[in-house]
Amino acid sequence: MHTTKIAASLLSADMLHLGDELERVRQSGADWLHYDVMDGWFVPNLSFGLPEFQAVARQTDMFLDVHLMINHPELYIKNFAEAGADLITFHLEAAGDPFRTVRTIRHYHKQAGISVKPGTPAKALLPFLDEIDLILVMTVEPGFGGQGYMHEMTGKIREIRNMIQDKAIKIEVDGGIDHTTAPEAVSAGADVLVSGSYLFKQQDMKKTVDMLREIK
Ligand code: DX5
Ligand code: ZN
Repeated sequence: MHTTKIAASLLSADMLHLGDELERVRQSGADWLHYDVMDGWFVPNLSFGLPEFQAVARQTDMFLDVHLMINHPELYIKNFAEAGADLITFHLEAAGDPFRTVRTIRHYHKQAGISVKPGTPAKALLPFLDEIDLILVMTVEPGFGGQGYMHEMTGKIREIRNMIQDKAIKIEVDGGIDHTTAPEAVSAGADVLVSGSYLFKQQDMKKTVDMLREIK
């Protein structure tokens, strides 16, 4: 039976109380913890980096989903892998050699994901389909939480779903997910929904996670 996984994006957490926020996410039953890394070059913003990730990883036993929005991701795979990432996703558009980056992630026995920005066509992923565990489809321009879902990306999710056929590749969707946009992403083929601003502003996070997970 198909069940959607929910990845809570820590970018929208209260940074002064990360320990409490991690506990809130754990109690919500969210499947994954989504950790956004930005470098101020690949995206016009900065977030948190390695020291905070190490602290988070020590504190939780959740599945750690690292989303690298940085140039030359290959330089940082070792650090995130050794700190406890379970899945490392980098951008196809980032400076660097994507094949080498995938091989490096594999070298550390982690799951490997590739993300595409809204302007990048689905077919750019074709050469990687035998190498990766996950495709992360951005439904906003990467860099900031709280933006609106780009409805024109729903067709791309569907196209990727058709493209991967029977391969065991998950499709994760990131940006602007809430109770109105999640059904659109799931019906197009999303397996994992990232939720940041929508999820963290809820009083009852568990109820929201359960609701998002039930969407067919
Ligand atoms: C944005 C990040 C997202 C962000 C999503 O570049 O990759 O993971 O936290 O936030 P929302 O759910 O608020 O769009
Ligand atoms: Zn993200």
